[in-house]
Amino acid sequence: MSEREEQTTGAISTAPIEDFSNFDNEAEALREQQARDAQAEADRELPPDPEAILEVRHLKKHFPLKKTLMGKVLSALKAVDDVSFKVYPGETLGIVGESGCGKTTMGRTILKLHQPTDGQVFFKGVDIANYKAKQMRPLRTKMQIVFQDPYSSLPPRSTVGDIISEPVRVHKIVPPDQVKDYVLKLMDQCGLRDYYYERYPHEFSGGQRQRICIARALSVQPELIVCDEPVSALDVSIQAQIINLLKKLQQEQKFTYLFISHDLSVVKYISDKIGVMYLGSMVEFGKKDDIFSNPMHPYTQALFSAVPNPNPDEKTDRILLKGDIPSPANPPLGCKFHTRCPLAKEICKHIAPAYKDYGDGHFVACHCYPQE
Ligand SMILES: Nc1ncnc2c1ncn2[C@@H]1O[C@H](COP(=O)(O)OP(=O)(O)OP(=O)(O)O)[C@@H](O)[C@H]1O
Ligand code: SF4
Ligand SMILES: [Mg+2]
Repeated sequence: MSEREEQTTGAISTAPIEDFSNFDNEAEALREQQARDAQAEADRELPPDPEAILEVRHLKKHFPLKKTLMGKVLSALKAVDDVSFKVYPGETLGIVGESGCGKTTMGRTILKLHQPTDGQVFFKGVDIANYKAKQMRPLRTKMQIVFQDPYSSLPPRSTVGDIISEPVRVHKIVPPDQVKDYVLKLMDQCGLRDYYYERYPHEFSGGQRQRICIARALSVQPELIVCDEPVSALDVSIQAQIINLLKKLQQEQKFTYLFISHDLSVVKYISDKIGVMYLGSMVEFGKKDDIFSNPMHPYTQALFSAVPNPNPDEKTDRILLKGDIPSPANPPLGCKFHTRCPLAKEICKHIAPAYKDYGDGHFVACHCYPQE
């Protein structure tokens, strides 16, 4: 048994051993769903945390796969399935997980670029989950997104000056005669030379384009910025520059970031808190230091074991996950991770573990820990 497995099994307080031979998995799944719905309904009445800039409760985004002629959804892909967390002003929450686990969909649903299927999204204490486009308009400046691909997210026929000026003019951020000075100052903060103002996106490298995207996002003075894999398309050396730029801007202007990435080294560097997603669910959430020093969920342990250790004297046991990630259209019953989990037990195939706080805001969903 690996040291890592020993650590985990050492913490195990196994649920009572049950005989699952005649267990009705479908009935249990239904019961769990009803319990989750009842909890979401009860939580709906709770006041939002006045300190949090973003509070997400039981957020769901399901994409319909099959509908009746009357429009009733018969089956759906559960891209985000009952996710809850809070972020406080000035914090960076890193969201990690394999491709397809729902990171982008969650970020876009929070920003109302997708309409949530269910759940609450409090931005500065106001639930915007059911806001219409018109109600969202004044909030659009406060919540921005930086995309992964700086190549396709810039209009090719506009100059850098026009690209960054447009939202400033539309949202009347400064008086019209001050727009150019405002944009040049912003470009300077983002490491863009003033003579780039008249140039076109195709004249720039990937890193410079991402700086333009960042300047455009910051131009409307946002408070929350969703960064969706902002450096994944860039060379490693350029990645560091962009990450440092995001950090510097945050220190100067106290932004809150939701930082989506599958690169754990980047997330470790930039985040204050980390959320680990698997198949549309949050399986672990907590302070960065707690998660890195004590990853409790077997999935988090496997993800972290794959991060190269810069210290050659420290041996890391790589945990290889078997099999492919299942389809979110048909997730496994019980614990969604049981088909790949090296520590799966019989109960994991039948009963979903509770998502619980095991101290100081360190949430985990796993039968390896007390469930009562
Ligand atoms: N508009 C859509 N319609 C239907 N299904 C979608 C849509 N957008 C995303 N999905 C599905 O939702 C699931 C989650 O996708 P998402 O893009 O959020 O994952 P991700 O974690 O961001 O992955 P990656 O790391 O590859 O960017 C995937 O199965 C995807 O196919
Ligand atoms: S299958 Fe799920 S509940 Fe069971 S040990 Fe693995 S992560 Fe925990
Ligand atoms: Mg994505």
